[in-house]
This record gives sequence, C-alpha cells and structure tokens, in this order.
Amino acid sequence: MEQFVINGPTRLKGKVKISGSKNAALPIIASTALINGKVTIKNVPNIKDVLSMIKILEKSGAEVNFENNILNIDNSNLKKSDPDKDMIRNLRASILFIAPFLVRNKKVSIPHPGGCLIGSRPIDVHLTALKKMGAVTTQKNNSYFITGNNLGGVNLCAEFSVTGTENIIITAVLTRGTTDICMAATEPHVQDLCNFLVKSGAKIEGIGTHNLKISGVTKLKAITYTIIPDQIEAGTFAIAAASSKGDVKIEGFIRKHQESLLSKFDRCGINYKINDDILHITPTHDIKSFKIRTEIFPGFATDLQAPMSILATQSTGTSEIYETIFEGRLGYISELSKMGASCVMRDAHQASITGPTPLFGTRITSFDLRAGATLIIAAIIAQGESRLDQIEIIDRGYENIEQKFRALGAKIKRVKLKEE
Ligand code: EPU
Repeated sequence: MEQFVINGPTRLKGKVKISGSKNAALPIIASTALINGKVTIKNVPNIKDVLSMIKILEKSGAEVNFENNILNIDNSNLKKSDPDKDMIRNLRASILFIAPFLVRNKKVSIPHPGGCLIGSRPIDVHLTALKKMGAVTTQKNNSYFITGNNLGGVNLCAEFSVTGTENIIITAVLTRGTTDICMAATEPHVQDLCNFLVKSGAKIEGIGTHNLKISGVTKLKAITYTIIPDQIEAGTFAIAAASSKGDVKIEGFIRKHQESLLSKFDRCGINYKINDDILHITPTHDIKSFKIRTEIFPGFATDLQAPMSILATQSTGTSEIYETIFEGRLGYISELSKMGASCVMRDAHQASITGPTPLFGTRITSFDLRAGATLIIAAIIAQGESRLDQIEIIDRGYENIEQKFRALGAKIKRVKLKEE
C-alpha cells in the first residue's frame, strides 16, 4: 500500500501538460476489438484503468505494444471466448467489452463490473438497448449472459448514460440497418469514440448532439488515431491553480469542452486567459462563493464537482454543491471537515461549504478517483503535513499526478506503507 505525503501550503506555479483522456481511451480501446489489423492510438494515458483494458484484450489474444503513450494493438487473433472475469470485476469501464465481444462472437458473458464506489451503477440502459436490437440477455449470480445472433438497427433511447451510449454505438456500427439513438450522451469522450469509429469507416451522423444515426457497415479498417486531452484532468489542474492562488499554464485545455467550468470561474471572479489550447490562471485574492449543480455535458461535469469544493473553502461566503448524478460522490466532505473546512452535508446529494477557511494537514483517505485528486489539492493548500491513503484509486485515472504537481512546486512524495 502506498500513501502521498504532502507538505503545504504551496502556491502552484509553472506549466503542466494534460494527458490523453481516460474516458475516451477506455471505449476506444474496447472498440478496437471490432477491427482486424494493427490499430495505432496515440496520446493514450499510462494509467491503471487503461493498462487493465489493454490486459483484458491481451489475455483474449490481442497483440499489444504500449510505449510512450502509443498503443499498437492487433485484434486479428482475438479468441472466441469471453473476457477475463477477474479483470472485468476490477473496473467499471470493462462493461464496454460487452459490445465488441457480442458483435464478434454473437455472445458474451461478463460479470457485473467493479470500479469506484460513487453510488449505484446499474447497467439496465445498456441491456434494454441491446434487447431492442435483438439480443437475448439473462442474469445469474451477478453475471450477464448475452446472445445476439441476428442483431438489427432500431430506435433506441440511451438516457444520457455515457458508457450506455458508448456500448450502443460500438454495437451499432457493425450491425445491419440503421440505429437511431435519442438522448445520447454528448460528453467530449463520447464524441471522441465516434470520431475514432468514423475514421475507421463507421457511418455516424449527429456526433456531438443527443440524436445519433448509425448506419451499419460490414467492416472497419485499421487506422491511426490521436486521443483528445483529458477534460477532467485539465479542469482539475485549473481548479487546483485557482484554489492555491497560483500562476499556472495548463496546456491541453480545450475551451469547447470547458464552458461550464469557465462560466463558474467567471462568476467566482477567477483571473484567467486562454491562448489556443493553453489556459493561464493567475492569482485571484477575492474568490466569490458559488453554486454548482452537476449535469450531463455541456453542463457542469460530476467528475469536477469534488475539486470545486476546494475552491469553495477559499471563497468568501457559502457555496452550494448539488451532485445530481451519483449519490456517493460527496464522501470526501468528511475528509475536508477533518482538515478544518466548514462543511454541512444536507443529504447524500447536497452540501454547503463556507469560506474562506484555512485548511490544516492531517491523515485523510481517497474514497474514489476524483475525491483522491481533490484531497491532493486540499493538502497542497493546507498548512503542515497531510498523509493521503488509498492512492491506488488515484493511479487508476491520473497519469504521473505527483510528478505533475511537483513540477508546479508542490511538496508531494509517494511512500510505501508497511502492512498494518
Ligand atoms: N444509470 C442508470 N442505468 C444505467 C446506466 C446509468 O440508472 O444503465 C444512471 C447511473 O446510476 C447514474 C447516471 O445514470 O446515476 C449516469 O451514469 P452513466 O452511465 O452516465 O455513468 P458511467 O457511464 O458509468 C461515465 C464515466 C464516469 C462519469 C459518468 C458521468 C467512464 C468510464 N466513466 O460513467 O467517470 O462520472 O460517466 O459523466 O466514462 C470517472 O472518470 O471518475 C468516472 C466515474
């Protein structure tokens, strides 16, 4: 087990380059299983969840080389068997293997996936859509058995589920007929998956809207593709810079992915400039309190809700946080309270934070990926030493996070803990 030891306070200063998007890389890697031949994907983040997705394909027979953020993958010899069950149980995004394995093998069996504990994470939207397309699904002992001998395009509703939309898209591109998806998720990573598939030969209309029309083709070709920068990592560093009253340039900040964050920054009075894909945050000494309500894209991303709580501790007045998407995403509030933040939990979805208050270093725990990154920021601006546990969760989704914060001046080191 490992721990971050962080000594603060530090005003972050310097430049950080954002890695490739985790939530784009995961479905794109899964969808390579639709393609025979060598696919090259660039700007793939070297993070635990990506390594797990690659390993699952490798164990199923894919030839893989992953170096310097470039993934070369050839699924020509993928075995006609199901993905490794123990590995599937490790991460939520493994649910994305349902679609390519179903399309390739006409059947798939898969256990309910694991992942961060942030609330109930059913997959009924995925299963209902597949059934409408002609699949037969059964469920036993927390596993799903799905067959699809004669899938066909129909009208479907994706209920704005991100991976639900992605599973339907991955299934539909090689399915005969036309699949019309309403209430499709439009997050930048969903668009990136679509762009990857279109470059491979898929026919998808309406990318970036809630209505997608997919006309099935018979084959996809092997291509080279570059993944977009990570919207959430970029937002996290922007919030960290503002919370620490730092002076930081964030390279790989795509404005059209970040309008809801920038709108909050405008209302809080955060000083920033944007030049191409570089966001430059400069110190703001009087940050105004704010209200956030998490929404589907282009609304305020649930994955940036936790980091905003640190900005709230440094803002004047009471900020209100309303997490509408997951009921378990305010767990970090107890840790912030231990550090001296003035927080009130109203219920599982709502909290208020009154500032500005100094934070003080103490021993804290990451309950999920985004909460983990949030507590790193808290510890960076806190006075004294913080010890952050369960950092393996953070390694699932952020590439070289401590090196990146260290390069901005943070005093953060990773230590191995003796088993207690
Ligand atoms: N939902 C259902 N039924 C379903 C699917 C979802 O009721 O079949 C509900 C969920 O319980 C939740 C809401 O719909 O309340 C949204 O869930 P969604 O399916 O959109 O989430 P997801 O696809 O499981 C992805 C990201 C999450 C991100 C959410 C929301 C990936 C691999 N994961 O999850 O990212 O928070 O969308 O934007 O893309 C993270 O990166 O830390 C992370 C958790």
